[in-house]
Amino acid sequence: MIKNLNYIDETVFLKEKSLFFKESWILVAHKNELANNNDFVTLEYFGNKIFIQNYNGTLKSFQNVCLHRFNTIHEEPYGNRVSSCLYHNWTYGKKGNVIGLMCRNSFEKDNISALRLKEYEIDYCGDFVFIKLNDQLDRSLNDYLGNVFASLAEISRHFGAKTIDYTIEHKVNWKLLVENVLECYHCTSVHENSFAKMGFGSVAPEKFDFFEAHSWCEFPKGDDVKPNKIIEKSLADRTFKTQGYLHFYSYPNAFISSVEGKGFYFGFMFPESPSKTNLRVRYFAPKFEKELSESQQNIIDFINNSSNESLDLVLNEDKKIVENIQTNLEHFKDSSPIFGDEEFRILKFYDYFNKKELNDI
Ligand code: FES
Ligand SMILES: [Fe+2]
Repeated sequence: MIKNLNYIDETVFLKEKSLFFKESWILVAHKNELANNNDFVTLEYFGNKIFIQNYNGTLKSFQNVCLHRFNTIHEEPYGNRVSSCLYHNWTYGKKGNVIGLMCRNSFEKDNISALRLKEYEIDYCGDFVFIKLNDQLDRSLNDYLGNVFASLAEISRHFGAKTIDYTIEHKVNWKLLVENVLECYHCTSVHENSFAKMGFGSVAPEKFDFFEAHSWCEFPKGDDVKPNKIIEKSLADRTFKTQGYLHFYSYPNAFISSVEGKGFYFGFMFPESPSKTNLRVRYFAPKFEKELSESQQNIIDFINNSSNESLDLVLNEDKKIVENIQTNLEHFKDSSPIFGDEEFRILKFYDYFNKKELNDI
């Protein structure tokens, strides 16, 4: 039993926020989303607006708020355009400096050329793009991810094109979302007609690894599920094949998963309050050994569509449960949840997180 888990207090939430801003690298994008000049992705992490943009082949990350009168620079979650603020068209370059503004002479006394957007350091784990939240943190991304780095880098290489990108608001504390995805103990009940039907949840995982609060685990597929011949044939040339459902937690904010390498899910948590967390959901097609013909691509598009529909179904099944739990927690402030052996990744996560909370905050 774990004592003192708190899912509702503002003070605890603010302490968690300061812990993350002190010690964390966060996963923010996949390189495929930022492949072209001026591609950008935005995010809002605990109220901090940030964007990552391709400047002629170099990825850079800055605060997403204009230095003129503080309008948001990029309003969209992703897109392709120069980083100019749409209020008075101040345009920023790859050093976060103002490279274009109307009526420059009228700002002569303001030393505009010395202005810089706050910059976040970028580093890569394979094709995954991370940013460092605290510029004083003296820890490389490699050290931060430890022995999980290599497996994460490996899976990142097999992402194809992004097929969906949307946000689902959850009226829950972020820790409930973490707990929910770190076990498949609930899969046969909550996902009886979705995930369990695909063969997951009934066989205990054998392959897993941990580093601090990060972890990955492969849930094997039960052998009573008949493969769909058309789907198997169409996906036979994908670059990454695995037997089961592979799931990663990159602490503190990201989940990455794949069912047999047939596509890839990116789930990023953006906590807004003790009882509200936005989950940004992205899905990527698999990569193939050879270029696909038009008719093969049509079949793959169809498969991707149905993967997106199943994902949406599974996410909504989980959402209903975790939101239900959040409403009960107010009345169970002094009780602790119980985590059994099937929920071992949750225990490992709290092993790390609770020590951190006590020592560092
Ligand atoms: S607020 Fe951005 S250009 Fe004026
Ligand atoms: Fe679930």
